[in-house]
Amino acid sequence: MPDSKDQILLNALPEHVAIIMDGNGRWAQSHGRPRIFGHKNGVTAVKEVTEAAAEIGIKYLTLYAFSTENWSRPRMEVDALMGLLIETVGKQISTLQKNNIRLKTIGDIQRLPAKTRLALEGAIEMTKNNTRMCLILALNYSSRWEIVEATRLIAHKVKEGTLKEEDINNEVFAAHLSTSDIPDPSLMIRTSGEHRISNYLLWQSAYTELYFTNVLWPDFRKNDFYQAILDFQGRERRFGKTGEQVSKETISII
Ligand code: IPE
Ligand code: IPE
Ligand code: MG
Repeated sequence: MPDSKDQILLNALPEHVAIIMDGNGRWAQSHGRPRIFGHKNGVTAVKEVTEAAAEIGIKYLTLYAFSTENWSRPRMEVDALMGLLIETVGKQISTLQKNNIRLKTIGDIQRLPAKTRLALEGAIEMTKNNTRMCLILALNYSSRWEIVEATRLIAHKVKEGTLKEEDINNEVFAAHLSTSDIPDPSLMIRTSGEHRISNYLLWQSAYTELYFTNVLWPDFRKNDFYQAILDFQGRERRFGKTGEQVSKETISII
């Protein structure tokens, strides 16, 4: 069987792929180990997928690393995750530089422990001029938080007179989200067999193609990523139009 990678159409790639990395705890449990062992092994999958995405030319890759709701996990697990973030950023920074990858975050990183925030800010600053791909970590992120924040910002501008109420539209709203400089994801992948969005990119995923796989995140490899891309390329994105309209448009582009 040829590698999935060879079958990918490089001129029809999703510009932005968003991933919900799920299943670390269950993976650890299946190996008879504590949950944090799963998170540690999840780092291998992060490296694989970042490499895989950059290799084929994906421009934006967003990884859901820690949700606002994840603070309610046991203290020990939260602390271990924050420590793992520092360690991983420290170890990966030179690889990001070498591969011309820019690091960004979305979410309320001001509320992360100072050491974690500083490690992230250092890496963001260091890689800010890299252009091959943008790797975005969603950290202390929740879509409802982000939407409420955007609303607050907009309300403030209307109140102080710098924005007119009648000028508020989709574009203006999107420009106040933490993803203002990032295109909407074309493809969203969730691992571990769960079929939900868990407060991730709710506004941005209005027309995103969803892909679910039973693979647990620490087992996710390049070929699993390429399979998701291939699945995406087999779909027809209609954006509310009829299938007939879409195929006519495709023919006229060709
Ligand atoms: C995803 O794996 C990683 C984070 C949410 C930080 P989980 O830790 O949610 O793993 P499961 O879902 O319990 O197996
Ligand atoms: C979503 O996974 C958040 C991240 C991957 C960081 P969860 O494991 O926290 O989601 P739920 O609670 O199962 O919906
Ligand atoms: Mg989970």
